[in-house]
Amino acid sequence: MVDSQADLVANGYLIRTENLWKTYDMGAEKIHALAGVSFTVKKGEYLAIMGPSGSGKSTLMNLIGCLDTPTQGQYFINGRLVSAMSDDELAYIRNREIGFVFQTFNLLARATALHNVELPLIYNGTPAQERIARAKEALAKVELENRMMHKPNELSGGQRQRVAIARALVNNPSILLADEPTGNLDTATGVEIMNLFERLHRQGNTIILVTHEHDVAQHAHRTIHIRDGKVASDERRAQGSQNP
Ligand SMILES: Nc1ncnc2c1ncn2[C@@H]1O[C@H](COP(=O)(O)OP(=O)(O)O)[C@@H](O)[C@H]1O
Ligand SMILES: [Mg+2]
Repeated sequence: MVDSQADLVANGYLIRTENLWKTYDMGAEKIHALAGVSFTVKKGEYLAIMGPSGSGKSTLMNLIGCLDTPTQGQYFINGRLVSAMSDDELAYIRNREIGFVFQTFNLLARATALHNVELPLIYNGTPAQERIARAKEALAKVELENRMMHKPNELSGGQRQRVAIARALVNNPSILLADEPTGNLDTATGVEIMNLFERLHRQGNTIILVTHEHDVAQHAHRTIHIRDGKVASDERRAQGSQNP
């Protein structure tokens, strides 16, 4: 039985996917990047999505981030059916509810760290003074107050990713999505970024993170394995002895 939207809200699901398919029609063949994915995520969870290259992880993240639409199936965010949203509502959700962090950072090369973080606030019409204050606050959360006026090419890889994380956080989104955020970083820098995600989770952020590294997935409290576009396993780990 499919729950009603009211039930979904009552159950506290931030995200619910119901039999999601994404099929690419390549003429001679159809590629089922996702072949019936269903799962739910509650507020405050820290979920890792793992799976081999080509298994559909990025496709799934792009659907969750409302950057793409499924061929079949339903996706609810905060109890609301995404396919029923108008373009304006979708734009609002993308801007306010979702913070997306990419493997390749996706920063504006010519803009300072501060301006990169301000961008989502410019798009939603936040007045300049408030915008700068909030962008500075987000940069403080990732410990980059002292690099605000640097451009991406004046920052290390780890610092660039921290700018991207600050940009993702600046609107206090309901959920932080990260697709292989340590994929372009050396091991030590990757560990720093994972420590940052762990801290953000402890501060109450809901996080979904894609990785193919077990070390990285260890930081999460739940792991979904994707294989051939399907959920192969979904395991929760007892919350370990974390420092307060
Ligand atoms: N735009 C596209 N057009 C055609 N096929 C695609 C497209 N994007 C992804 N695919 C295919 O879908 C499958 C899943 O890709 P992807 O989600 O990027 O996997 P992963 O992130 O797990 O490596 C792959 O077989 C890939 O080649
Ligand atoms: Mg990918």
